[in-house]
Amino acid sequence: MARLVIVSNRVPPPRAGSGASAGGLAVALQSFVEPGTLWFGWSGRVVDKPSDTPRMAEGQGVSYATIDLSGVDYDRFYVGFANSSLWPLLHFRLGLMRYRREDFEGYLAVNGDFADALLPMLREGDLVWVHDYHLIPLAAALRARGFTGRIGFFLHIPFVPASVLEALPPAYELLCALCAFDVVGFQTRTHLQDFLDCARRFTGFTVEGEEVVTNGRRVRAIADPIGIDATGFARVAARSTGTAYIRRMRESLVGRNLAISAERLDYSKGLPNRFEGFARLLTRFPQQQRRVSLLQIAARSREDVAEYQALRRELDRLAGDINGRFSQFDWMPLHYMTQTVARTKLAGLFRIARIGLVTPLRDGMNLVAKEFIAAQDPADPGVLILSRFAGAAEELSDALLVNPYDPDAIAEAMNTALEMPLEERQERHAVLRRAVFDVTAARYCNMFVDALKAA
Ligand code: F6P
Repeated sequence: MARLVIVSNRVPPPRAGSGASAGGLAVALQSFVEPGTLWFGWSGRVVDKPSDTPRMAEGQGVSYATIDLSGVDYDRFYVGFANSSLWPLLHFRLGLMRYRREDFEGYLAVNGDFADALLPMLREGDLVWVHDYHLIPLAAALRARGFTGRIGFFLHIPFVPASVLEALPPAYELLCALCAFDVVGFQTRTHLQDFLDCARRFTGFTVEGEEVVTNGRRVRAIADPIGIDATGFARVAARSTGTAYIRRMRESLVGRNLAISAERLDYSKGLPNRFEGFARLLTRFPQQQRRVSLLQIAARSREDVAEYQALRRELDRLAGDINGRFSQFDWMPLHYMTQTVARTKLAGLFRIARIGLVTPLRDGMNLVAKEFIAAQDPADPGVLILSRFAGAAEELSDALLVNPYDPDAIAEAMNTALEMPLEERQERHAVLRRAVFDVTAARYCNMFVDALKAA
């Protein structure tokens, strides 16, 4: 059987199961990886003189190989091109995009270093599966070093229309790099179509159906929405309600409704718009005051990027403003925390919440939306309010869909959710639950690996 080699910028610590606080990508994949898999990526460490040889670790039969980055590489590759150029661009935030040629050179150089370190570990017949926007040039780098095996790529974040992509100076180079893979996967059909359109317009390659035909090679594009281990998450959520942590949370609510949001502190998540929406709920529907508290968990992220620092200052101010305006001596409307919360605790918090508020301005998929649904008690489920610009909205159309730029729409949806009769909550949840239990992490992985095997 062909060995699977996963390559991602972040590599989870060996043995971190679904209880750990790793990111969405790592958790989704980790519930699937089988013994024998090799997982390669960045160690998360920045050092003066990175070694050329990867550091090895083992966990449940999976080998983890990681390399460090130098300070210059970290600045140009991670903070620079990946998170200051590509991330804002691919989330439709051209105004936040910062581009410097030396960052793009650093991005190519780190992909070259990844290829140098990975190549000696590859065997004939391996299936190499590369993840996310940090590593778009990796297939071309491996091919330039002589690797002839199958290489697939999955983009976890959105892809943009040609009119947005053209603003990126090396758009042509990136599209050619994507065409060095055998299979390129996207979260939704919209992203897939945008990619094909960009490939047609910018590279001059021919597009036949959902394949790009380059000089003698074919690149197959697929839409393969990522899912979660729904059964596992539902089990953790149900168990978690009996813990002291969740009991204390319930006690602190004194019978009030909990609305919950949880994500990385990132400008793509629409946090200021959401805070504004919550403030409008309390203003326009004053009967909801004292009936609901919003718990916003926004784990600090990418703190070396200037835009993230500015967002944090803005949120501190907005949170203080809302609580100053609406708090009463025995009720605080907004609980805002920037620490990471363990997934077992999050699962329990989702289960006891009346509202899951997931309103990114743009998102590839958004697994929190799926986790919220999986965590609910089908007999008394909470209501999901979901941005129509999250990839998950294509599958979860029975949620209350909102335009996240419109704070009044968020306020109205929250009011509707708080007033929604049990029967309607149950009906909506039953449909959403089926979707989340159908499109799981295992299905996502199998579909991609099958496409790669067939390449
Ligand atoms: O969602 C995109 C992503 O890069 C994931 O791959 C990762 O788990 C998460 O964001 C965390 O970001 P970072 O690796 O920059 O901390």
